[in-house]
Amino acid sequence: MKFNSKALTVLLIFSLYNPTTLQLQNHQNHQQQEQEEDNPITRFQNYLRIKTAHPTPDYPSAISYLTSQAQSIGLKTLTLEFVPSKPLLLVTWEGSNPSLPSILLNSHIDSVPAEPSKWIYPPFSATKTSDGKIYARGSQDDKCIAMQYLEAIRNLKFSHNFKPIRTIHISYVPDEEIGGFNGAAKLAASEEFKDLNVGFMLDEGQASTNEKFRVFYADRSPWWLIIKALGMPGHGSRMFDNSAMEILMKSVEVMTRYREKQFDLVKAGLAMNSEVISVNPVYLKAGTPSPSGFVMNMQPSEAEAGFDVRLPPLADPDLLEKRIADEWAPHYKNMTFQLSPKGPSRDHMGRPLMTATNDSNPWWGVFEKAIVAAGGTLSKPEILASTTDARYMRQLGIPTLGFSPMTNTPILLHEHNEFLKDTVFLNGINIYESVIRSLSSFEGRDTA
Ligand SMILES: *[C@@H]1O[C@H](CO)[C@@H](O)[C@H](O)[C@H]1NC(C)=O
Ligand SMILES: *[C@@H]1O[C@H](CO)[C@@H](O)[C@H](O)[C@H]1NC(C)=O
Repeated sequence: MKFNSKALTVLLIFSLYNPTTLQLQNHQNHQQQEQEEDNPITRFQNYLRIKTAHPTPDYPSAISYLTSQAQSIGLKTLTLEFVPSKPLLLVTWEGSNPSLPSILLNSHIDSVPAEPSKWIYPPFSATKTSDGKIYARGSQDDKCIAMQYLEAIRNLKFSHNFKPIRTIHISYVPDEEIGGFNGAAKLAASEEFKDLNVGFMLDEGQASTNEKFRVFYADRSPWWLIIKALGMPGHGSRMFDNSAMEILMKSVEVMTRYREKQFDLVKAGLAMNSEVISVNPVYLKAGTPSPSGFVMNMQPSEAEAGFDVRLPPLADPDLLEKRIADEWAPHYKNMTFQLSPKGPSRDHMGRPLMTATNDSNPWWGVFEKAIVAAGGTLSKPEILASTTDARYMRQLGIPTLGFSPMTNTPILLHEHNEFLKDTVFLNGINIYESVIRSLSSFEGRDTA
């Protein structure tokens, strides 16, 4: 803080002259401060101010803040570290019948990076505008749910004197934004996780631009595809067949037609973005380097391209692989390819990674009724176009829904000027109160 001696002098004179006014002012300031400390919005802002962006997410500060919040409402906390400097936090509210399968609420701690120069407020300032918008990286993805879980439990415990039957756990995990391999994947594979005996899980979802809440029953699974072409090198001036570049470019044309067909289905409204296979080019690599760039009079003997591929849960990876081998990178054209899954795409029984949203899944009805009881409406369950940690729990056969209670909100995850309105955040707390109350009170048959 900068010391302003002039102001202090004035203040001193003023206080000597009129001590009661100063005392009153002090008292008011103090009260204001106290109010700020006690308010769900300022607690949310405090969490948003922790710099959790990659590549250097401050996990220790985030975990220490969440731990103090959880302990202040009397919840048990446990920090685990399966991989050095990748801590995760488990918070537990024990139910009256801990032998029943528990409820797990998940939130990842990390955020994607932000470019401060492109933001109207600094991305970790959590500035709140007069119309209630709170600007911060992570405000939607997904620091909101991290705090809403705790605020909902605080209200259930202290305002409603509610006692859960099933135990409720919250997991705060690292590294979701870079695949979750050192976070949720390690947690799901651990003995500690088995001991939690999780029956149902909620993970992050996405904002909805209308008044209905969105809910997600599956993710698309990410795959990396690299195709390579080999060919005769030659002088830049020569025309000849089957140079590496020519082979690769012809392949890319075929793939582009496939991509357009999938995209046309989306544009025509016949499928959602998340229901088709996307094949998006992400890099091209060829050419012979020279000190000033590339050798321009030489056709290279190797060329390579990389693609981000996303498969909806019912797409067959073997069929895709066959298409690549037959049409996109055939061996007879001197091409090779590598198709690598970036995570699981089948559960432990070999089934697609999806959670049923009908009567075959008893949790579905409990969840849906809880939303309605809180005055909300759900839109048709969707597949998430991207990927979350939910896949690691679905892999274990645990029914898992993606849900972030944000209605009438522009979808700003990973974008500049990500924000969430205070009223939307507060309403989300009400929604979770209802959801946590219903899930933790559910005593029916709990396996699908
Ligand atoms: C495959 O590459 C070799 C040289 O590496 C070349 O001689 C041959 O013509 C190429 N075949 C095809 C089908 O492109
Ligand atoms: C419920 O949904 C699953 C897939 O999500 C489906 O396989 C199953 O047949 C459905 N069951 C009923 C009773 O509708």
